[in-house]
Amino acid sequence: MAVLLKSDSVIDSLSLSLSARCLKLKERGVNPKMHVFLVGENPASVVYVRNKKKLCEKIGAICEVNQLAESVDPLTFERHLLQSAQNSSVHGIFVQLPVPKQLSSISFDHLIPPVKDVDGFHAQNIFGVFSGFPDNSYLRPCTPKGILTLLDHYKIPLSGKSVLIIGRSKIVGRPLALLLLHRDATVTMAHSKTTNLRELSRNSDIIVAALGRSEMLDETYFRATCDQTVIDVGINRRADGKLVGDVKFDAVQAIVGAITPVPGGIGPMTVVSLIDNLLIAAELQNA
Ligand SMILES: NC(=O)c1ccc[n+]([C@@H]2O[C@H](COP(=O)([O-])OP(=O)(O)OC[C@H]3O[C@@H](n4cnc5c(N)ncnc54)[C@H](OP(=O)(O)O)[C@@H]3O)[C@@H](O)[C@H]2O)c1
Repeated sequence: MAVLLKSDSVIDSLSLSLSARCLKLKERGVNPKMHVFLVGENPASVVYVRNKKKLCEKIGAICEVNQLAESVDPLTFERHLLQSAQNSSVHGIFVQLPVPKQLSSISFDHLIPPVKDVDGFHAQNIFGVFSGFPDNSYLRPCTPKGILTLLDHYKIPLSGKSVLIIGRSKIVGRPLALLLLHRDATVTMAHSKTTNLRELSRNSDIIVAALGRSEMLDETYFRATCDQTVIDVGINRRADGKLVGDVKFDAVQAIVGAITPVPGGIGPMTVVSLIDNLLIAAELQNA
């Protein structure tokens, strides 16, 4: 049976050091504070924001949620973001995605300064990912950062390993590929036009599933040698209401070496990465 790569033990150990760093900042008169923008009442977004606020407060930082109406006009929305950007007591800002249509073409790059961009999506932070800047000198995108933290916690080697990333989104697959390259992994990217996904997957040491296809990767995508590591990023709601990943967990866990559960795997790692970014942001702004 595979080793279960659960996030709770990682978060327990990280929480202690996050709390200590937060306290250190407070002793210097800096109260780490995050501003969250939640537009509308999408139930999944409300839960995600609640989880982020909970962990933020658990480690002693402040999280203020600005809930805006679904119908908020772009100018009002931008004015709110600019106010937070100019407020020196706010160290981190993020907008919970997705946003309604009327806001979808807004470039947050012009509204959220890179040093407050705790999501790690600003062009300057992506340049850091591209260039391989030192970890705590900029804000890395949260899901890829969380995946690396989890792999490191469970001491899964990356150097020289073949890693297949399925999904090339700007928030997960692409930045993860670059971060893994900087760790000397041999990275292959797959997407919806890839024709030999099964073969690629069976031949990889580590498979990261970030495609958003409910339980699509069944046991036929893995070799039955119990030595592959599977990172399931997907979060999908099945017809029966159950939350599942992109991997058919029950069938696959029997034939691989290690696997993340859904829920309890990469989701919470994304949250803890966001809080880590808030502290890095506060540290950088008060260096
Ligand atoms: N755990 C977390 O914290 C977290 C964070 C972010 C996202 N997620 C979850 O991760 C999943 C992916 O999210 P995302 O935002 O990265 O997704 P996205 O922007 O929709 O991108 C999906 C990617 O998967 C590829 N893809 C789709 N169907 C495929 C198939 N049949 N075979 C191979 N590749 C396929 C797409 O290829 P093309 O480029 O060719 O279209 C695309 O590159 C979702 O379930 C999302 O909810 C979880």
